Amino acid sequence: MKAIVIVDKNWAIGRDGGLLVHLPGDLKYFKEKTMGHTMVMGRTTVEGLPKKKALPGRTTLVLTRKPQKELTAEDGTCIYGDNARICASVEDLERILGNLRENDDFVAGGASVYEQLLPYCDEALVTVMEQEFPADRYFPNLPELGWELASESEPLTENGVTYRFCVYRRP
Ligand SMILES: NC(=O)c1ccc[n+]([C@@H]2O[C@H](COP(=O)([O-])OP(=O)(O)OC[C@H]3O[C@@H](n4cnc5c(N)ncnc54)[C@H](OP(=O)(O)O)[C@@H]3O)[C@@H](O)[C@H]2O)c1
Repeated sequence: MKAIVIVDKNWAIGRDGGLLVHLPGDLKYFKEKTMGHTMVMGRTTVEGLPKKKALPGRTTLVLTRKPQKELTAEDGTCIYGDNARICASVEDLERILGNLRENDDFVAGGASVYEQLLPYCDEALVTVMEQEFPADRYFPNLPELGWELASESEPLTENGVTYRFCVYRRP
């Protein structure tokens, strides 16, 4: 699998259930990379999306241990949208996706899901911001884990935040 994430200079990713900052350029990048693919997200992350629905144009596998009846709307569809599918465990994910290490789908957060699925990822698309923000959720610090920076874009600045699109690879 591949992780996709935006981090601040301390590898922070979120606060109070939301993202640290709104960067249209990064949202566009996320859309371009994930469109047409399958993504895995934790329940908290999906519930932080607009209207609490999975993003259009992509299949989202939502990890949650909640009982099925809490996740089903009155018309029998999934409360997170008809492009969402519930997974009760990592084993459940493997049943749907096959060998997680060998597939090309995206791990899209949040912190608990990144941590559990990073062992199955060989590549991470990391938007790295130069600034730091107050935060309560973090992504693993990839250079400290020995991951290598394979490429990085020129810096972009939006809303006073400077960031680069980086690709990290497991050595
Ligand atoms: N910067 C970024 O790129 C980025 C991307 C995504 C998210 N985020 C941020 O990350 C934060 C959310 O992260 P988080 O760690 O609090 O929550 P999360 O990972 O989004 O979701 C946690 C929930 O996922 C479910 N879950 C996790 N592992 C599971 C497993 N093995 N089996 C079944 N269910 C499982 C559980 O749901 P139940 O409680 O329903 O059982 C758990 O409470 C937010 O602030 C969000 O904005 C940032």
